[in-house]
Amino acid sequence: MKTVGILTSGGDCPGLNATIRGVAKALYEARPDISIIGIRDGFYGLIHGECEKMKPSDFSEILTRGGTILGTSRQPHKKMQKIEADHIDKIASMKKTYADLKLDCLFILGGNGTHKTANLLRSEGLNIIGLPKTIDNDIFGTDYTFGFHTAVDIATEVIDRIHTTAASHKRVMLIEIMGNKAGWLTLYSGVAGGADIILIPELPFEPDNIAKALEKRERKSRPYTIIAVAEGAMDADEARLKKKERTLMRLERGEATATNRIAAGIHERTGFDTRVVIPGHIVRGGSPSAYDRVLATRFGTYAASLAIKGVFGVAVALKGDMVTHNKLEDIAGIPKLVPPEHQMVAVARETGVIFGDN
Ligand code: F6P
Repeated sequence: MKTVGILTSGGDCPGLNATIRGVAKALYEARPDISIIGIRDGFYGLIHGECEKMKPSDFSEILTRGGTILGTSRQPHKKMQKIEADHIDKIASMKKTYADLKLDCLFILGGNGTHKTANLLRSEGLNIIGLPKTIDNDIFGTDYTFGFHTAVDIATEVIDRIHTTAASHKRVMLIEIMGNKAGWLTLYSGVAGGADIILIPELPFEPDNIAKALEKRERKSRPYTIIAVAEGAMDADEARLKKKERTLMRLERGEATATNRIAAGIHERTGFDTRVVIPGHIVRGGSPSAYDRVLATRFGTYAASLAIKGVFGVAVALKGDMVTHNKLEDIAGIPKLVPPEHQMVAVARETGVIFGDN
């Protein structure tokens, strides 16, 4: 193995640089003469041949840095096989760049969509190793993705800080947390931050149930309420719609998410004063937590060892306490959503958290 490539694709998250560093340091230790090519801006760089040979010093002092030193971009998987107005055959271009660079292996750091394209490139004969990143923690076959725990820490800090202002004003505060399809981040940070109500896409809510829960809290003299709302949370009526219909309906209503509507509905039904807080991309920014630095380093070094052994067509994963790998074809395209009966949901319910679903 003489030359390897590495790219980061999709939304950035804390721990990308720590993982890149883990891969590079382990490769240089085992193969001091190895060439590592950094592909710029995800699959865009692979399509357009935008890349550069990295130096060992490029991988120093990046363990704690947020974002990605390689840059990233969103290249939707569903468009990968389409020839668009620019007439570029993206798959052929990526294969050409891989061949021109004489890569023996390509490390691809990304989320669900990225793993689908990684699997496509595998099926086209490229030697691929995937590494699971995302604050959403929704990649099948791994207990955790890197970036998730840092985002949980940041979202929890936001919820913690909202408690005092909610209490002072006796308000219902809704904190919208990223996660369009999967509610893991909202569930974990909601539990960690002591949210009273948690709304996630996997458990569609009845607005009346939320109002009833708030009235019950008032009867118990609870002066304020914290609601953690996932970006993709939906009510039971919306859940009955197809995704396209739901998107259209929200477009017509001029809303990107349900959070403001939930807040307005609460005020209408109960008269309580509500406020919406959206930390948005803040939960994705900045330095990775110690947990993610360790996980990223374990993932990166493990990926390097796979490459050295010639094990390709796989994605690195954490199962229990062990770093391992799955075949890309077994995990690509399968989203890992919160099962309604998951132990974390049960734990939350046991501590009195309302999901609004029943
Ligand atoms: O996939 C990670 C994520 O942060 C999701 O939670 C969120 O829905 C999406 O990315 C936001 O995407 P963008 O950064 O492109 O706005």
